[in-house]
Amino acid sequence: MMYSPEQQKKLYALSKEYLEKGEVGGVDMQQQIEQLRELINYHEWRYYVLNDPVISDYEYDVLYKQLAAHEAEYPDLKTPDSPTQRVSSDLTQEFETVTHLVPMLSLDNSYNAGDLVKFDEQVRKLTAREKIEYVVEPKFDGGSIALLYDHDKLVRAATRGNGERGEDITPNARTIKTLPLRAAFKKFGFQTVELRGEAVIRKDIFLQINEEREEQGLTLLANPRNSAAGGLRTKDPSETAKRSIEAFIFQFGYGIDNSGKNHLDSLQNHYDALQMLSRLGFKIPAGQMKRCKTIDEVIDFCNEWEGKRETFPYEIDGMVIKVNDFALQEMCGTTSHHPRWAIAYKFKAKQATTKLLHVEYQVGKVGSVTPVAKVQPVQLAGVTVSSISLHNEDFIKNKDLRIGDTVLIERAGDVIPYIVKSMDDLRTGEEIPINFPNHCPVCHTPLVRHEDEAAWRCPNMQCAAQVKQRMIFHVSKDAMDIDGFGHKLVERFYELGWLKNIADIYRLDYEKVAALEGFGEKSAENLKKSVEAAKHQPIQRLLSSLSIHHLGKRASKLIAEKVAHVLDLRDWKLDDFLDIKDIGPVVAENVIDFFAVPENIRMLEEMESLGVNLKQAEEDKPQEVSADAPLAGMTILFTGTLQQMGRKAAQKLAEEAGAKNISAVSGNLDILVVGEKAGSKLTKAQKLGTVRILSEQEFLDIVNSA
Ligand code: IVH
Repeated sequence: MMYSPEQQKKLYALSKEYLEKGEVGGVDMQQQIEQLRELINYHEWRYYVLNDPVISDYEYDVLYKQLAAHEAEYPDLKTPDSPTQRVSSDLTQEFETVTHLVPMLSLDNSYNAGDLVKFDEQVRKLTAREKIEYVVEPKFDGGSIALLYDHDKLVRAATRGNGERGEDITPNARTIKTLPLRAAFKKFGFQTVELRGEAVIRKDIFLQINEEREEQGLTLLANPRNSAAGGLRTKDPSETAKRSIEAFIFQFGYGIDNSGKNHLDSLQNHYDALQMLSRLGFKIPAGQMKRCKTIDEVIDFCNEWEGKRETFPYEIDGMVIKVNDFALQEMCGTTSHHPRWAIAYKFKAKQATTKLLHVEYQVGKVGSVTPVAKVQPVQLAGVTVSSISLHNEDFIKNKDLRIGDTVLIERAGDVIPYIVKSMDDLRTGEEIPINFPNHCPVCHTPLVRHEDEAAWRCPNMQCAAQVKQRMIFHVSKDAMDIDGFGHKLVERFYELGWLKNIADIYRLDYEKVAALEGFGEKSAENLKKSVEAAKHQPIQRLLSSLSIHHLGKRASKLIAEKVAHVLDLRDWKLDDFLDIKDIGPVVAENVIDFFAVPENIRMLEEMESLGVNLKQAEEDKPQEVSADAPLAGMTILFTGTLQQMGRKAAQKLAEEAGAKNISAVSGNLDILVVGEKAGSKLTKAQKLGTVRILSEQEFLDIVNSA
């Protein structure tokens, strides 16, 4: 523990005092500033290192703002190790190179149990020991960093570079919240230390960042590793801060005392060294490392992790095995490339090469034609891959892919396999360029491509492939949510000629269904119940279930709120749509086009006669909110996990109080309500400075005040 239980109680009580009163009596400004720094450091450690905060994000934010305000008022009291200095200036910078105190070596690799047994034999020979204790820990897949602390302060951070010299990235590293800007090394007799670690991004946060980048029209980041390594090297520290980078420390590389003598031996071994670093506030692979008495135990632990690597929130590409005892490490020594006392055990590759055999074209529910590469089946991180999406024509062109090419494929994190590149060096000249078709592969209608879209589309709404895909979507969870009616069933009924369009879903003959192989009275009855239930779905679901291009859930809801009956949309003009905030001309045109097609109207009328609800239910209508409602005219967004209610219920409350729920943090957002473990949305809102940040309780107090 870095803080004793008593200390923690005190820090907690002091935090509450600052939160309630905004100041603490009997201490001067310098002391207040120091106390606030101590509190913020403590709460950052609870949050980022332990993942177990004791105050809400909002309360943390209040403390942080108090400190920032004091520092702004008394600039003389500002110090570079203040937690407010993590968010660095917007100054851009060129990197200088710096020499590492000790060269950063690589690791030798092993790939199987046999390699590890050999490694153990060599270590025992070099040390003349019967038995060796090893420490095994994850091999993080991110960007390596070397940190220099002098007199307890973080004074320099560098990338690995060429091992001898790296790039000075100190301002960026300062934004990494798992790195203490100050750590009490002196208490343990150290004056100058160098630590090594890996900067990483959690897989879920990586996906979230990309979602946000997509919303903002920015290019997507390739994978967590590149995003972390790239984030370390951006010229703009605020960009590093945006990526929520964390750093695991896994090596105490160098440590001298105040007379300049090596002091590392005082710790005796790697395991204890990491425990000390943990007590000093660093993030170490605490729950993922193990001391092993034999190489068999090492092998078991490696296998265990290979099996569960996907469930770990961070990307790892293997394990690292280290001789625990520093004196024995010394006896093993190093080569110019790697230490002889450590070795990496690499998990089975997530990259592989295979041959691109041919390309198939799939037609989706709105007619988009997606090319899919069929490749020679190959093992990739434990699964057999034989088809890989090529997304669109530009992807094929940009990568210059050809039939017969040897391609490098990859599966990173939980991401689906994709083609990294073709290996042009291996071309024989026999490869055939891929010609994107100009006619629909199913109905042979000429394909069209809009200027601002990447996909070629089949414009024929009656195209058999589209009709089938639309029915598959219609029954799915995201649309009418017909329990037990999956894509296999749609395909089967379609082949039998029972389903020609969506309306047919509601006039199935259940006696015939019951007679099908694999069915029976009971399952036919259940299917009927599900279909009957779907007839009562609110019209916003019905609208979005129609597969009108670009008409998603949100736009469907906005439009549904304004109509009494779905068929009223026949009479809607462009302006009626554009009067709704957040409905743009593209969606509007698509809905207008849909309701101008007689077949579509006929289909909806048939559905209604079969009992499908096309009418606005009373409770779905937006409530009239008066101008003096507590949140009248405000936009609001919820982030993080709410404790007292679900997000949907909270959004409903907000609407009743006059607010409008929106989905992204931008200049348009008035209020952000933060639940527990709020992530990048909170950071972004803080950065904008224009968003009012509320805790869940504060939000409730406001809406209940009405
Ligand atoms: S120890 C002298 N431990 O792997 C050996 N390295 O190929 C120092 N890495 O660039 C490395 N996780 O960034 C060590 N638990 C771990 C590691 C680890 C990831 C990276 C490190 C280095 C590379 C070595």
